[in-house]
Amino acid sequence: MKQKQPVRTFHVTTFGCQMNLADSSTLVSSLSTRGYTRVDTEAEADLLVFNTCSVREKAEQRVYGRLGEIIKYKREKPHLKVAVVGCMAQRLGDELKERIPHVDYVLGTDRLFELADVVEGFEGTESVMTAFGHENMDSIAPIKETPFTGFITISRGCDNYCTYCIVPYVRGRERAHATDFILNAVRDMVADGVKEVTLLGQNVNSYKYKETDFPKLLERVATETDIPRLRFMTSHPKDLSPKLVDVLAENPKIMPHIHLPLQSGSNRVLRKMGRVYTVEHYHKIIRYIREKLDYVSITTDLIVGFPTETEGEFEQTLDAVRKVGYDSAFMFRYSVRPGTTAARYEDDVPEEDKIRRLNILIELQQGIASEQNQRELDQIRFSLVEGRSRRDNHVWRARTEGNKTVLFGGESVKPGDIVPVRITSADAFTLHGELVTSN
Ligand code: SAH
Ligand code: SF4
Ligand code: F3S
Repeated sequence: MKQKQPVRTFHVTTFGCQMNLADSSTLVSSLSTRGYTRVDTEAEADLLVFNTCSVREKAEQRVYGRLGEIIKYKREKPHLKVAVVGCMAQRLGDELKERIPHVDYVLGTDRLFELADVVEGFEGTESVMTAFGHENMDSIAPIKETPFTGFITISRGCDNYCTYCIVPYVRGRERAHATDFILNAVRDMVADGVKEVTLLGQNVNSYKYKETDFPKLLERVATETDIPRLRFMTSHPKDLSPKLVDVLAENPKIMPHIHLPLQSGSNRVLRKMGRVYTVEHYHKIIRYIREKLDYVSITTDLIVGFPTETEGEFEQTLDAVRKVGYDSAFMFRYSVRPGTTAARYEDDVPEEDKIRRLNILIELQQGIASEQNQRELDQIRFSLVEGRSRRDNHVWRARTEGNKTVLFGGESVKPGDIVPVRITSADAFTLHGELVTSN
C-alpha cells in the first residue's frame, strides 16, 4: 500500500570512501528512476540523505555534527524527511534514531537502495532496516560519478577482519559481482562518454567469480571493452600477486598506480593488526612492481599509535616509508572501533604521543612526496582533463596516469580529453606542466 507523501526532491551528502561515493551514485540513480528530483542545496530538498562512514571516531563525529545542523530545516519544513544510510546506519541501527530523534529513516549498507520504498511506506519496509543480504547485487546498475570518470564496485564487504577495522562488521561478508555484470557496466559507461573507470573493492585482489580472479578480470575489462583508462583499488599486500603486476605491465590501458596499504612497518604490530604479511614480504612486492613497471605511482595507508606500539616500532614505520618512497599516503591516528578485536586491547598509546608520531610521519611523507614529484620533471604524462583549476579559471586541471593532479594552460582542450602534458614544476601535492602540441 502506498501512502501519500509530499516528498519530491532529495539531496545526498556522502561521507567516507569511494565505495560510499559509488553507492551514493547508485542511490541517486534509483531515486531518480522512481520520480524524485535531485537538487543542489539542502534547503530545496524534501528528503535529506546522509551516506555515512564509521571507519574512525572522527568520521562519525562529522556526521553527528551535520545532523545537528539540519534541525533548522526540519523546523522550517515539517514534512522534511531525514535518512541516514550506509556504514554508520549499519553500525548503530535503532540507537541512531534514539540519539537523534529528527532522523526518520536508518538504512544499512545492504538496504539503502530500498530508500524509495521506505519513503513511500511500502508494505514490509520499516524506518530502520539493517539486515544483511537484501540487496540484489547484479540488479544495481552503477552510474557515472562525473561525466568522464566512473566507479564500479566489483565486490562488496570484506572477510579480512583486520583487528582495528569496522568495515567487515558494517559491510558484511565479501560478495563478488558477476564478471559479465562488471563488463557490461563498463561498456554502458563507455557508451555514456566515460573515459576512466575505477574498479572498487576493500581487497580487489581477492576477487573471485567462478573461474575469474582479479588479474583475469582486469585483463578482460582492458581487452574486451573500449574503456580508455582503467584503475583499481584497494590492494591488500597479502593477496597482490606477481600475475597482477604482469597484467599491468602488459596492458597500457591499466594506469600505473597501486594503492597498497602498509599500515605499520613493524612485524609485531602487523601481526597484532591481523594483516598476515611481513614488512619483508611487502618490500618484496614493491621490488617486483618497480622491476616490472618503468613508471608507477605507489600510495599507501598508515596507522600510528596502534595499541602497544612502541617508539621503536613507530620508527620502523618511518624506515619502511623511506625505503618504499610513496607518492602519497593517507596517515591516521589509531581510533578505537567498538566491537572490533583491537577494542579489547588497552588503547595505551597516550593521545599526545599519537599526535606527535602522526606529525613526524606526515612531515617525512611530505618530503618524500615532494622528491617523488621532482622525478616527474620533464616527463610527458598523458592526463585526463577534469575541468578548470579551482583557483585559476584559465588553467586546466587533469589527472596523470599515476593519479596525480597536474595543472596546465592551453586553448584547444576540453574536459574529458586525454592529452600529453610535459611536467615543468612540482611540489608535494601538485604537478604543473605544459601541453605538448604536435606542431
Ligand atoms: N580495505 C582497505 C582499507 C579500508 S579503511 C584496506 O585494507 O587497505 C581505510 C583506511 O583507514 C585503512 O587502510 C586504515 O589505514 C584506516 N583505518 C581503518 N580503521 C582504522 C582505525 N580503527 N583507526 C585508524 N585508522 C583506521
Ligand atoms: Fe578493513 Fe582490513 Fe578489510 Fe581493509 S582489509 S576493509 S583494513 S578489515
Ligand atoms: Fe568506507 Fe567508511 Fe564504510 S571507509 S566502507 S564508508 S566505514
